[in-house]
Amino acid sequence: MSRRNRADLRLINSPEGETMGISRRQFIKSAASLGVIALAPRAGGAAVARTATLRAAVMEQAIRAGAPRTNFSGFNGSVPGPLLRYRKGETVRLAFRNALEVESAVHWHGIRVPNAMDGVPYVTQNPVQPGDEFVYEFQLPDSGTFWYHPHQSSFEQVPRGLYGALIVEEERPIEVDRELVWLLSDVRIEDDGLQVEDFGRILDIANDGRIGNEVLLNGIAAGAGNVLEVRSGERIRLRLINAAAARIFQLELHGHAMNVIAYDGQAVEPHVLEQLVLGPGMRADLVIDCMQAPGSRFLMNDIHRRSVGPIASFVYGDASPVRRKPLGAPMRLAPNRLPEPDLGKASEHYIMFQGGMRGAPTLGIVDGKPARTHELMERHGLAWTMNYTARHEHALMHEPFLHLQRGEHVVLRMINETDFVHPMHLHGHFFRVIAVDGRKQARPVWRDTVIMGPRQTIDVAFVADNPGDWMYHCHILDHAAGGMMGTIRVT
Ligand code: C2O
Ligand code: CU
Repeated sequence: MSRRNRADLRLINSPEGETMGISRRQFIKSAASLGVIALAPRAGGAAVARTATLRAAVMEQAIRAGAPRTNFSGFNGSVPGPLLRYRKGETVRLAFRNALEVESAVHWHGIRVPNAMDGVPYVTQNPVQPGDEFVYEFQLPDSGTFWYHPHQSSFEQVPRGLYGALIVEEERPIEVDRELVWLLSDVRIEDDGLQVEDFGRILDIANDGRIGNEVLLNGIAAGAGNVLEVRSGERIRLRLINAAAARIFQLELHGHAMNVIAYDGQAVEPHVLEQLVLGPGMRADLVIDCMQAPGSRFLMNDIHRRSVGPIASFVYGDASPVRRKPLGAPMRLAPNRLPEPDLGKASEHYIMFQGGMRGAPTLGIVDGKPARTHELMERHGLAWTMNYTARHEHALMHEPFLHLQRGEHVVLRMINETDFVHPMHLHGHFFRVIAVDGRKQARPVWRDTVIMGPRQTIDVAFVADNPGDWMYHCHILDHAAGGMMGTIRVT
């Protein structure tokens, strides 16, 4: 293997948390060198908050060896930011230091936090001013794969590089030989490596969002040259996170079965996927048994229409197999305890989506006044409506578009009248995806973000048990900025 590939391998694995086969001391040592914020021993069962600091600032980093450096914003000087890794039930204290020149805040995507810790400027807290600090403190109720990112001008701050993984370990993790965390994202750069300063263009807002021209895996360029060295016989747990602002990934892996064991951090009955679709904000945990011969090589590809290209190569070393048959250990994760919606007594609510560059023109309400599609776009920089209303990011969010009683069992029917895909995300709760175009799902999965295809209707069900004003928005961040964003109030 060339030196270049070896360097890539180190990078591709950088936010990994080794949990097997090494001592705690080694772990902490290697974790420190990898920028991992490591586990500390539990203090005799007492609820001692574990502390970490996330400092957001501008920085530079080359996306491939020898390439010109790219200007990013990053947490603690890297893209992605540090891997935060905790155990289920722990209390964490996360200090956010804003060393940017703009206001910001940090949202903990998928974590069921109390509302005041949710990190949404103007809705759950005041924006953190440049030079200021805000301390988040909350308990981690669920194990799973989560992530963090700013929730202010997210269409710009996220693709600039402000995102990282937050892993919450199960009380009893499943047995694997190795665990990897891959944050997928992208960046739009020029030949000189600098980011194109074209955030928030109406053309992107009203279409598929701002798609980068370089796909990144843990902050470096994805592609066949991005090598993961594997040992024949080993079992890998791969935690995938789509941190891109707009890009949808559709992944396939040659020569291996992708066993999905969790979506958005929540356990599913393990089953094999031919392809994995990951919209922005979404996560999947895979178990991969590497049963091919030493010396062989396989590609993971993105086959989504917008990209099509290799993400990484699985390259088998020459070492003899660690085992001849796949590890027999169970893959099934113990489920988190989530409040089960009772469809018999659930109230029904509807959200209709309209807008976008293609399709029928829309008449929507902006700032209390009617506006047609072209006015929405030209005058307000908005392109989407939910229940006929287009809202600006956060600022005028004090009026929720849906009111739920605390403890209410809810079916939310989302009717997509647009010709576009929208990964819809709800804060503070998980929901079960119970029907697609009216077809009941045999095994409704828990999610915090669900893909709504063009002209598709999705029914989700949940118990509104977490009081507060919760964001509900498209995770194509340009769409969110362009009107597909609102709050749901639970009181
Ligand atoms: Cu990942 Cu409202 O965000
Ligand atoms: Cu959208």
